[in-house]
Amino acid sequence: MSKNFYITTPIYYPSGKPHMGHAYSSIVADIFARFKRLEGFDVLFLTGTDEHGLKIQNEAKKNNKDPKIFCDEISLIFRNLTKTLNLSNNDFIRTTETRHFKSVEDIWNRLVDSGDIYLGKYSGWYSVSDEAYYDKDEIEDSSGSKVSKISGSTVEWVEEESYFFKLSSWSERLLKFYKENPKFILPTSRKNEVVNFVEKGLKDLSISRTSFSWGIPVPKNKKHIIYVWLDALTNYISALNYPNIDDNKYKKFWPADVHIIGKDILRFHAVYWPAFLFAAKLSVPKRVFSHGWILSNDKKMSKSKGNILDPVEIINNYGIDQLRYYLVKEVSLGNDGSISMENLKNCINNDLANNFGNLCQRVFSFIKKNCSNKIPKINKFNKEDEKLLNTLKNNLPNLINLMNEQNLNEFIKIVVSYSFDANKYFNDAEPWALKEKNPERMKVIIFTVCEQIKNISILLNSIIPLATKKVFEAMNINKDQIYLDNINNLECFNHNIELKELNILFKKIENDN
Ligand code: ME8
Ligand code: MG
Repeated sequence: MSKNFYITTPIYYPSGKPHMGHAYSSIVADIFARFKRLEGFDVLFLTGTDEHGLKIQNEAKKNNKDPKIFCDEISLIFRNLTKTLNLSNNDFIRTTETRHFKSVEDIWNRLVDSGDIYLGKYSGWYSVSDEAYYDKDEIEDSSGSKVSKISGSTVEWVEEESYFFKLSSWSERLLKFYKENPKFILPTSRKNEVVNFVEKGLKDLSISRTSFSWGIPVPKNKKHIIYVWLDALTNYISALNYPNIDDNKYKKFWPADVHIIGKDILRFHAVYWPAFLFAAKLSVPKRVFSHGWILSNDKKMSKSKGNILDPVEIINNYGIDQLRYYLVKEVSLGNDGSISMENLKNCINNDLANNFGNLCQRVFSFIKKNCSNKIPKINKFNKEDEKLLNTLKNNLPNLINLMNEQNLNEFIKIVVSYSFDANKYFNDAEPWALKEKNPERMKVIIFTVCEQIKNISILLNSIIPLATKKVFEAMNINKDQIYLDNINNLECFNHNIELKELNILFKKIENDN
């Protein structure tokens, strides 16, 4: 089995500043990327910006800017956000890069060669905001204008010469593919939506426009601009040096293991993208995981409601690990989830400060006071100690499995319960009462709880990388020890050197009122 893993986020439109929804997709993808590295995989994690199309062209115009300059500016904000979010992405792709142009032209040519493209005329509804075509029955009236029933965004009537992709001829193949690959679309509830959509029969898809210029021209007919979604989806292989399919990167990482996306763009990823790839005779990604909507105080974020959450502001106030943890603990991945500052504070205090943070802090200060600041070496556990360690160890295959199925919430729930149990173990064992009475037993308790702190930190490392790094550093655990393989490896500690100072991991948030 290959130990390579390729994971992507959507490439975001640099039409405005990133908000919490963008941060969420990226954080979720980062957690899976980091977890696969803990498993020992060679991981490629890609994110970037989607810079062509009418939406961007219009936005640039509104700002009196040349589209490329406009994109340079906002794409940079997205790139900087990857640092602020502490993402471990290996690459950041922009669709205005040369490597991407070459790739899109090549996939276009492949679709021409396979006979999947013909010239015709499009007349129908188009949403610039979604960059999507909608059918008559997907449109409704809303206070005088026509909007998409699916997204609520305004649509306009379009009539122009257009190249079409013979999507209709791929329905059967897609349905067969979904059937043979039941986990291609996760969560399963979303998969059913897609299957129903395809079962109704697919229409051919307009894949070029002539009424604007900001995009990649059709090879051999430059008055046509390639549909921004065909352009955008191709980013996933442009980053692998496609069209050079003999390139090592392409061979190693394609097909992608999972595209992490929001539910708004599932149709593009689960229907159009595999159909393009089938036609181009390229492999199809192994999975598309679509998460739900982040709601701000129960409502969809929007400029008009004024409830847009700025991730940078929250990170400045509370910390990045805190935000990462909160988002994936409180929002059930795959469903919509409401977030609020009140819940964020409670979550930081209860789970991070009082539970995991407190466990580390009290054990470290106990060792400093009572064990010459070194983790004691021991050789015999009793039943209680073994129970604590083995519960985690025996459940490890299950935990790995949960992460590989993107069942992040269940994973966290279990790991947090281990932290709770370790706190309880420490309380119940009362090592402070054994200092004189039974120092040997005291050492065993301290070793056991240190071992468990290490194990839990490895498990939480992908979610709260900064805090767990502090714990590893304080314990003198080095970087190349931070692997799942070292869970319950009792040889990780150096018993001869002192622990480093562990500064407060998570400050408690006081209530303002
Ligand atoms: O659709 N909650 O880009 P986009 C959760 N360029 N996630 C959210 C969210 C919210 N409220 N709002 C946005 C595009 N997202 C295309 C993608 S991919 C080849 C091209 C996240 O800037 C979510 O992942 O509109 C959603 O799918 C994505 O941002 C849309 O970002
Ligand atoms: Mg969008």
